[in-house]
Amino acid sequence: MRKTTAIYPGSFDPLTNGHLDIIERSAKLFDEVIVAILVNLDKEPLFTVEERVSMTRAILNHRFPNVRVDIFDGLLVEYAIKQQAQVIVRGIRAVSDYEYELQMALMNRRLESRLETVFMMAAEAYSYLSSRLVREVFKLGGSVDGLVPALVEEKLKEKIQKK
Ligand code: PNS
Repeated sequence: MRKTTAIYPGSFDPLTNGHLDIIERSAKLFDEVIVAILVNLDKEPLFTVEERVSMTRAILNHRFPNVRVDIFDGLLVEYAIKQQAQVIVRGIRAVSDYEYELQMALMNRRLESRLETVFMMAAEAYSYLSSRLVREVFKLGGSVDGLVPALVEEKLKEKIQKK
């Protein structure tokens, strides 16, 4: 039988427990999952793409033998086809995510009809969680305990101390 490869794309700046939850769910569904970290060229990310990749790899740390971490730039669909993927996974938190995600999914389908976008819901405990909020709360001195993996919290502390 043909193996199913799914791409889980995003900025992951930084990876949150919500992302981890989606990775875990995807790893159960698909033969191979590629966590594809976007090289943000126009956004100024908090973590460089190298930092995001090494953190994500360390956190996953062979926990899921069928998950690997990679970087991409340019069109997501072109990257996905190069990886011989059939599926793009996106996490949906609330109805408010849906409109933007629908737009992206339909644009991606128009660009490349061989790819199917699959929406997954993270555990409800993470339904309000986003990388943007994590960055903001952390910068303003709030606790992100339980919202991000311990390594991310550690690296966030290092980032803020350096500033
Ligand atoms: O979770 P994020 O950070 O909102 O991820 C957005 C991402 C990376 C999935 C999206 O910006 C993307 O696919 N960018 C690559 C460029 C591209 O293909 N754009 C057209 C999308 S319809």
